[in-house]
Amino acid sequence: MNIRFETRSASDTLILGEKIGRHLEAGDIVFLFGDLGAGKTTLTQGIARGLGVAKKEYVRSPTFTLVNQYKGKVPVFHIDLYRIASSHELEELGLEEVFSSKGVSIVEWAEKLFARDDASIPLLGIERWIEIHITIEQEESRKLDLKTRNIGSTEHPIFALH
Ligand SMILES: Nc1ncnc2c1ncn2[C@@H]1O[C@H](COP(=O)(O)OP(=O)(O)OP(=O)(O)O)[C@@H](O)[C@H]1O
Ligand SMILES: [Mg+2]
Repeated sequence: MNIRFETRSASDTLILGEKIGRHLEAGDIVFLFGDLGAGKTTLTQGIARGLGVAKKEYVRSPTFTLVNQYKGKVPVFHIDLYRIASSHELEELGLEEVFSSKGVSIVEWAEKLFARDDASIPLLGIERWIEIHITIEQEESRKLDLKTRNIGSTEHPIFALH
């Protein structure tokens, strides 16, 4: 599945995230790609809201802790790999446990999960994910390309956006 969205403000992106979040289920993994300031954290805030994370929970980039966990209808893990410099460092984070849990994981700087020698297959045994590429168009407008990916043998559940 391939869908393109456009937002014209940060609050538009929040609303879009919320809509996406409402369709996610336990075990889903969302990879976010986009330059600094593209809106990955903003979209994550919306996704968390859509997954039932309370408004008073302030979702901000887990740049120092790398993984934040929030309580929604399922556990919500917000991961930021910006500071990860090697696959060795990545392995030390123990993310397999997070990715195989009954939560939803949202990953900023997901490119760090792709090994250099085979850029199409993510590390850590991930076989099924949703990727969202955010492009800065103008100061306040963003293009968001969403696609579902499945390189495993299990069927991808129907993921419909209304
Ligand atoms: N349409 C838009 N969608 C999202 N953010 C927008 C939009 N227009 C302007 N902005 C602004 O762009 C910035 C996006 O910041 P955000 O922290 O979400 O980006 P990020 O991709 O997570 O950056 P980083 O790589 O530093 O983690 C915010 O200051 C936000 O107000
Ligand atoms: Mg961010």
